[in-house]
Amino acid sequence: QREYHIVVLGSGGVGKSCLTAQFVQNVWIESYDPTIEDSYRKAIEVDGRHVILEILDTAGTEQFTAMRYPLSRLPNLSAKSLALIHPPRELYMKTGQGFLLVFSITSMSSLYELAELREQIRRIKEEDNVPMVLVGNKSDLEEDRAVPRARAFKISQDWGSVPYYETSARRRANVDEVFVDLCRQIIHR
Ligand code: GTP
Ligand code: MG
Repeated sequence: QREYHIVVLGSGGVGKSCLTAQFVQNVWIESYDPTIEDSYRKAIEVDGRHVILEILDTAGTEQFTAMRYPLSRLPNLSAKSLALIHPPRELYMKTGQGFLLVFSITSMSSLYELAELREQIRRIKEEDNVPMVLVGNKSDLEEDRAVPRARAFKISQDWGSVPYYETSARRRANVDEVFVDLCRQIIHR
């Protein structure tokens, strides 16, 4: 049985953990608890193949250890020991086989921040066609939309026809689709 390593990346608060929780456990999480790093396993069937997805849900910002976590939440941990517990971005980019690049349709900057992550992935993996999906989450918040669908789609095309999906973790819309698409890309590469 094949195992694929998937990494979920994007700015803080865009919904990476909620998407992952919906996909893996079919639950909706309303509260916001910034992630340090979590990993999950889920067995799925794609095109008649049984595969296991090992999903790494990452922190939205690299500075989370120093900036975003009050000491009360991480008592007695130096930045150095935290780096040992939670490997730096380069490491999981190296082991990751497929990447979900997530932004929120309510935040233009969350889309722009993905460009840098994408470049970092390509640099670290030293290849152009790394399996990836561009995900515009929070599609249920249409009234707060800040990113026109066409703008995100254009970027996905400029990236070499990366598939673009709009999802809602809240409504569980398109959630399975993004993971399955990524899985297909890994299988058929
Ligand atoms: P970090 O772990 O800090 O990087 O954030 P994250 O990207 O994991 O965000 P998370 O999944 O924790 O969601 C942040 C907040 O956005 C939570 O309050 C969620 O309830 C909310 N949220 C996530 N997905 C959706 C969605 O599809 N629709 C709406 N309306 N809210 C969402
Ligand atoms: Mg999270």
